[in-house]
Amino acid sequence: MDLDELPGVGPAIAEKLREAGFNSLEAIAVASPMELVATAEIGEATASKIITAAREAADIGGFETGDKILERRHNIGKLTTGSKSLDELIGGGLETQALTEFYGEFGSGKTQIAHQLAVTVQLPPEKGGLNGSAIIIDTENTFRPDRIKDMSEGAELDYNDVLKNIHVARAYNSNHQILLVETAGALAEELKATEKPVRLMIIDSATAQFRSEYVGRGTLADRQQKINRHLHDALRFGDLNNAVVMITNQVMAKPDAFFGDPTRPIGGHIVGHTATFRLYLRKSKGEKRVAKLVDSPNMPEAEAVFSVSSIGIRD
Ligand code: GTP
Ligand code: MG
Repeated sequence: MDLDELPGVGPAIAEKLREAGFNSLEAIAVASPMELVATAEIGEATASKIITAAREAADIGGFETGDKILERRHNIGKLTTGSKSLDELIGGGLETQALTEFYGEFGSGKTQIAHQLAVTVQLPPEKGGLNGSAIIIDTENTFRPDRIKDMSEGAELDYNDVLKNIHVARAYNSNHQILLVETAGALAEELKATEKPVRLMIIDSATAQFRSEYVGRGTLADRQQKINRHLHDALRFGDLNNAVVMITNQVMAKPDAFFGDPTRPIGGHIVGHTATFRLYLRKSKGEKRVAKLVDSPNMPEAEAVFSVSSIGIRD
């Protein structure tokens, strides 16, 4: 069934919805009426009607029995980081249909891990990959094809092929960043039936643009709300595409900390509630880094040591 066939959706509205990233029945089925009102310039009643029809057509939205959930969870894939100890810390790799946050100070390895995942996602499952391609939303202009080349060689892959399966978009401000997650759906839809469907979305960094644009306490609530919605969009992308969602986040000094670690991740509890897994990275000797699992639904809080080597992330 095509979008145009939904009651209340003509060709013009279908076009607007597609442009805004609502390019499948599933995407519309899980949208809120206000989102459609804003993007397609339609009334709230029409929006609700469209969503209800999409839910029926796509067969989602109601209660599910536990066995169905178990079945869906059987489809969850795991993506290797290149380091066995780091993989073990999170139960065998980054999960699809979940959002994993890496936070830590500058140079702690967040961007290096992002590059590594964009390579390993292309590997077959028996090698820890997902046989897929990657989308990178680069907000700090730190994507380096040369590093992909090094890491491809480390993974015994042809870097020319690897680079072709990494779709990078530079985000110039927070609104642009939000838009890119929305439109990533169209790209994923396009690649769905190919040999390399999108199985990984990276946002590096998820918070930096918001941090620099929203200055001062008055705008904090607005900023948090925007980040919250943005991350939910990203998570939804992961659900719809059975993809891994990886985001990075810096830390800031906690001026009132007398005990313990004097830093905290930007976005605080907003990011924390959306992220399924949170990993805190810190530097150790030379190439060594320490990752601490801070938050996870079913893994104990623990630490792992990995290294950032010339050929990529390793034990
Ligand atoms: P910010 O984005 O600044 O917050 O930091 P980040 O956590 O993203 O740091 P990033 O992942 O960029 O880590 C940078 C570190 O990775 C460098 O300090 C190096 O230690 C290491 N690194 C980067 N490129 C190479 C490389 O080509 N070879 C090796 N061996 N290490 C590298
Ligand atoms: Mg970085």
